[in-house]
Amino acid sequence: MIEEKPAKDKRRKGRETPPTLRQMREIIERAMEGGDPARVQAQKAKGKLTARERVHYLLDEDSFQELDLLAATRCDEFGLKDKHIPGDGVITGLGRIGGRDVAIFSQDFTVLGGSLGLQHAKKICKVMDLAYENRIPVIGLLDSGGARIQEGVDSLDGYAEIFYRNVKCSGVIPQISVILGPCAGGAVYSPALTDFVFMVDGSSNMFVTGPEVVKAATGETVTFEELGGGKTHSAKSGVCQFLANSEQDCFRQVKELLSFLPQNRWERPARIANPDPVRRTTPLLEAMCEVDPRKPYRVHHIVWQIADEHKFFEVQDRFAKNIVVGFIRMGGDTVGVVANNPAVKAGALDIDASNKASRFIRFLNAFNIPILTLVDVPGYWPGVTQEHGGIIRHGAKLLHAYAEATVPKVTVVLRKAYGGAYIAMSSKYLRGDFNFALPCAEIAVMGPAGAIEILHSKTIKAAKTPEEAAKLRAELTAEYKAKFASPYQTASTGSVDEVIEPSQIRHKVARALRFLREKRRPGEHENRGNIPL
Ligand code: HXC
Repeated sequence: MIEEKPAKDKRRKGRETPPTLRQMREIIERAMEGGDPARVQAQKAKGKLTARERVHYLLDEDSFQELDLLAATRCDEFGLKDKHIPGDGVITGLGRIGGRDVAIFSQDFTVLGGSLGLQHAKKICKVMDLAYENRIPVIGLLDSGGARIQEGVDSLDGYAEIFYRNVKCSGVIPQISVILGPCAGGAVYSPALTDFVFMVDGSSNMFVTGPEVVKAATGETVTFEELGGGKTHSAKSGVCQFLANSEQDCFRQVKELLSFLPQNRWERPARIANPDPVRRTTPLLEAMCEVDPRKPYRVHHIVWQIADEHKFFEVQDRFAKNIVVGFIRMGGDTVGVVANNPAVKAGALDIDASNKASRFIRFLNAFNIPILTLVDVPGYWPGVTQEHGGIIRHGAKLLHAYAEATVPKVTVVLRKAYGGAYIAMSSKYLRGDFNFALPCAEIAVMGPAGAIEILHSKTIKAAKTPEEAAKLRAELTAEYKAKFASPYQTASTGSVDEVIEPSQIRHKVARALRFLREKRRPGEHENRGNIPL
């Protein structure tokens, strides 16, 4: 008789789980818990997700590979010895978003207020190093009271290690910071060194010194929200580029942003095909050349017309609204847009607009994203505040950013392009690759009103009556306009490559970008760090 072998599971049945396995499971379970239940409840009461929930919300299902779950502080000062500190207050690891690898860390406010001690910092540094070596984006979810006071200078050194890595990764891999709670003290400087900062309205704050210190130092009374809330940083300081209504909305925006970006500086963003034909005409833009040239309009309308499926993912939409920046797709490929917005300050360049655009251009250049520049600019915004605030220094950043950018650059002059601002907005001799102009473009050293006062001041002053002066002005303006308020003189010198039909903008831009697709790329050793501007 043949003896039947017992099935594997039958053999296991009734056997006790080995103590080593049981112990491992218990240790892991405990470490996964997060802070004590009261702290978790307090977190939820503020409408916030826990650090672990956030990681799972953001990453593709089942893609998270956690690291250092069991890391623990070695500090036993100020009662830390007796505290259970799971994962030292931060969850770190690798995962996927939309099928793409990313590195992630998520600070746990329920554990010692998400404060940063030495092990906490080491965990963050480890994933940043992995991100750098494997050339994948790094995303930080920040919810922290700053340097862990109990760990003294070790905490500060931990921050220094992170800042050092932020700079090393700058321009090499995309770095995204998502502020989901307080972000205090030096903790704000790591996000500020990254490429994009997200905040959630009503629940995130960023400040170097809190309201109490402000009160003691300057006597000013200010709330957390006014000092460093999402509205403040998205509209006034320009520290954050994206403001979300909720954490869920914030993660949706992070995913959308990532979809426009490459994994690293050596790659291009993935092409995401769509059915919108690149030869689609844009007849609505013919109206551009019919309206009063001084009439304000939102440049978004032009961007929507040009973009694939009329979609524009705007960056920093609440700050320096006189310039508009963001991402579109053309034929499925990512394109960065920089456009003067005549609806605000007539589209003039000021300090904030210069900084906003320059940093964005430098990001695009670092990550192989072509630049489409839409020009309608009457000049630099005048005034003592601007001059004393350093418009010369800040405006120069825009010249620098465009001139150094070696990615494909396509420029369309929609309407006004005067003086230094014309030069700055990716003009031909700053090395625009294709420079187009609409027939209603006015490209000149300065606007007609200012120009005739300088050119003909003696003639105008010699007028016997105000009526005569007004008549003279009108005639001289008309003469000036006839000569300069068109793109043809500029086209005759080669500063504009082609005067195009408004209905052909999309097609012309898409074709130019296609020709430029193989334009030289940054060499291996070229330095393209994205310094905060
Ligand atoms: C250690 C901290 C902490 C910190 C908060 N906690 N911040 N522990 N170090 N920096 C602890 C609290 O003691 C508390 O512990 C728990 O986290 C939750 O804090 P609460 O104050 O109860 O929460 P809340 O009322 O929501 O206030 C949050 C807060 C506040 C606004 C962030 O905690 C706060 O102001 N913290 C200090 C912020 C700050 O000044 N940081 C700068 C540090 S110096 P229990 O045990 O009660 O749960 C710095 C310099 C770095 O960062 C420079 C780098 C270059």
